[in-house]
Amino acid sequence: MIVSEFIPKPYKSFLESGSVAYSSPSNIALVKYWGKKDYQIPANPSISFTLNNCKTLTTLKFSKKTTKGFSFDVFLDGVVQNEFKPKIKQFFERIELYLPFLTWYHFKIETSNTFPHSSGIASSASGMSALALCLVQLEQYLNPERTKTSFNKKASFLARLGSGSACRSVQGNLIVWGLHSNIIGSSDLVGIKYPYEIHSSFNNFCDTILLVDKGEKEVSSTVGHDLMYGHPFAQQRFAQAHTNIDTLIEVFKTGDLSAFISIVEREALTLHAMMMSSDPYFILMKPNTLEIINKIWKFRKKTGLHICFTLDAGANVHVLFPKNESSEIRQFIKSSLVMHCQNEQFIEDTLGDGAKSIKI
Ligand code: PMV
Repeated sequence: MIVSEFIPKPYKSFLESGSVAYSSPSNIALVKYWGKKDYQIPANPSISFTLNNCKTLTTLKFSKKTTKGFSFDVFLDGVVQNEFKPKIKQFFERIELYLPFLTWYHFKIETSNTFPHSSGIASSASGMSALALCLVQLEQYLNPERTKTSFNKKASFLARLGSGSACRSVQGNLIVWGLHSNIIGSSDLVGIKYPYEIHSSFNNFCDTILLVDKGEKEVSSTVGHDLMYGHPFAQQRFAQAHTNIDTLIEVFKTGDLSAFISIVEREALTLHAMMMSSDPYFILMKPNTLEIINKIWKFRKKTGLHICFTLDAGANVHVLFPKNESSEIRQFIKSSLVMHCQNEQFIEDTLGDGAKSIKI
């Protein structure tokens, strides 16, 4: 699938060498993307909060080369990471049409995460979007008059081809990806800023990430998405995501936190229900994930506070709550939930406004 709007005009300048750097945050989906069509097109629309503290910082150094093909090295915290290379090579192959300079340079990709390495937090969203942003920044230097699409739109388009959910990490703080008939401007190709009213209850919304299991992902998201092909509940699930987004449009307008909780938790459990009912089936929650969920439900019932959870494709729990209830909820998390985390590790985050260029 070729999307001509993202193919650049011939570049006007050339740089021998240089460097660019970007920081890009992670994001957490409220309505989940699980299942895709070819070319990284989502099977259903998703909507996510962009985070603030969990991010990847990437510096891209480039120098002119004369050899053919792609040439790059990848470093994480200063240590060479050859195991990242196949994924990046695949990314470059997918995007070369849109960034013809990829074969002109040797690249040194230096990256680090603000969250603990192998914490079970997906670094592919923040990592791929940081890399895409660096590449679009370099393209901007080669062609300052590039006007066909906006900078963020091209970065999101490219990031999606690296890792689907990465297209939701370019901007903040509420992002829609995937065509939805009631969201103007929504697209399967890029993440867009949620275009409608957002009630003040969601200002500075908090996400405390409980690191229940910091191990390597047992099932890659590529394998997981593929299991939605031929899944017996796939069509109902994809339709449900559309309906849940419709409900969320109303929730974001009115600030109805009880309705928000019911959508967000149902989405998390549905994601895991899809995994538990695919062929082959798998369970990514751990006993401590369930302990935490049950404690959240009990605490919510007792206090009436608007605390809820969501999950990614793993055992870690994202605890979501409004800022104005944060002191009591943070205390509860520390006294009753953190004990279920591996080495009592957790990360306090809030909504953020997206990726930032880093001066180097
Ligand atoms: O971007 P991927 O291919 O790693 O898929 C992400 C899938 C989930 O994190 C489980 C859900 C989502 O929408 O972020």
